[in-house]
Amino acid sequence: MVSPAPSGEEGSLEIRDSRTGRTYTVPIKDGTIRALDLRAIKTDDDDFGLMTYDPAFMNTASCRSGITYIDGDKGILRYRGYPIEQLAESATFLEVAYLLRNGELPNRAEYDKWVHDITFHTYVHENIRKFLEGFRYDAHPMSMLCSSVAALSSFYPTARDIFNPAERQISVIRLLAKVPTLAAFSYRHVKGLPSVYPDNELSYTENMLSMVARMTEPKYHANPVMARALEVLFILHADHEQNCSTSAVRGVGSSHVDPFSAVAAGIAALFGPLHGGANEQVLHMITEIGDKKNIPAFIESVKGGKGSRLMGFGHRVYKSYDPRAKIVKKLAYDVFEITGTDKDLDIALELERIALEDDYFVSRKLYPNVDFYTGLIYRAMGFPTEYFTVLFAIARTAGWLAQWEEGLVDKEQKIWRPRQIYTGPDERQYKSRLV
Ligand code: CMC
Repeated sequence: MVSPAPSGEEGSLEIRDSRTGRTYTVPIKDGTIRALDLRAIKTDDDDFGLMTYDPAFMNTASCRSGITYIDGDKGILRYRGYPIEQLAESATFLEVAYLLRNGELPNRAEYDKWVHDITFHTYVHENIRKFLEGFRYDAHPMSMLCSSVAALSSFYPTARDIFNPAERQISVIRLLAKVPTLAAFSYRHVKGLPSVYPDNELSYTENMLSMVARMTEPKYHANPVMARALEVLFILHADHEQNCSTSAVRGVGSSHVDPFSAVAAGIAALFGPLHGGANEQVLHMITEIGDKKNIPAFIESVKGGKGSRLMGFGHRVYKSYDPRAKIVKKLAYDVFEITGTDKDLDIALELERIALEDDYFVSRKLYPNVDFYTGLIYRAMGFPTEYFTVLFAIARTAGWLAQWEEGLVDKEQKIWRPRQIYTGPDERQYKSRLV
């Protein structure tokens, strides 16, 4: 009956099947039982065996991962063991991207090579730029990014050789290098402006700002506070363990498709309003409130369940506070010192103050999440609302690639293929209704 817990395991679970009266012992390891162990629980030899039913994967670990650790009750987020606060304070985004992928921080020589390689792969084939020109003037930049990353796969057929570490390395470099270029080209297209080619003398985020904002000046000089703010936001969004888009990348990657196609699947998942779009909703909410004097009435409508939720508050995982939100709030002040505050920031601050004192939010453990302030920062930096998710995608590409590769080399993984509980009709005979 399955097996007694071998040594080294934490214990075991005794299961008695009331259908047969049999008892089974299922080993527990890492606070988990293996779903496949339940298949031994059968009513007779023809029975398929017991399955678990877990819509939305609320309680199922799909992989083992050494990349990102989250403790939602304590408000902890760490990449490869390093607290997010320390990385946001002192690291660069490319250093974090290296850490996520390789498991260790780079030394000086490793970092310089990594930055050099990524910097010198920022250009895309001219046909890709022309491909982007084919989109309508009002195309959503996420649609453009998703399609153009998928299209890149056709430019690098050797990327399909995914079990060749050298091919994986160059694909990772190319994706980290070219996603900002495609994102910026999409931005310029929507604005009706000519594309600005990458400037290899600039840092990752300075180059991004240059490709977005440069006009007639021969060289773009980003405001250092803005460039650092973007860098910190990229670090905060670089990974968040098995969220919807990361699971999409791992799931699609499990078919052994090339990483360009797998990352395009991640971008598609991120496009959804339940995933990448919440910061946009915060701005809509603040606009709707319109004035500080309207906040009490708005809060009452949220509490009464009549209006929308308080966007930017609450989190499925973080139940004390979202550690990223604290960093983002401070960052917002740095940026607003340059750009000046506005009415919306005042509304956001007052909204936060009132909500944090209100028993409705306190008792439900609803605290500001990362999205409460990011939209305000992006807007102060001059990005249009539609573009916020694109910036998220640039940062998350680092996490997607690390997670994709981890899944690929994991000997326990196979092509992802969930089971279902069939609820359709029983067998019936075909009889045409086309009479
Ligand atoms: N405003 C008002 N009430 C809320 C909110 C909110 N933002 N969030 C949760 N609640 C209430 C909810 O009505 C429920 O109350 P009751 O117990 O009386 O029915 C209780 O709190 C628990 O809510 P839930 O829906 O079971 O919680 P969840 O863990 O399923 O939802 C959430 C998490 C993020 C979807 C939700 O808090 C929410 O909709 N927040 C607003 C949207 C938002 O800011 N999303 C960004 C998430 S962070 C980005 C990321 O990390 O990817």
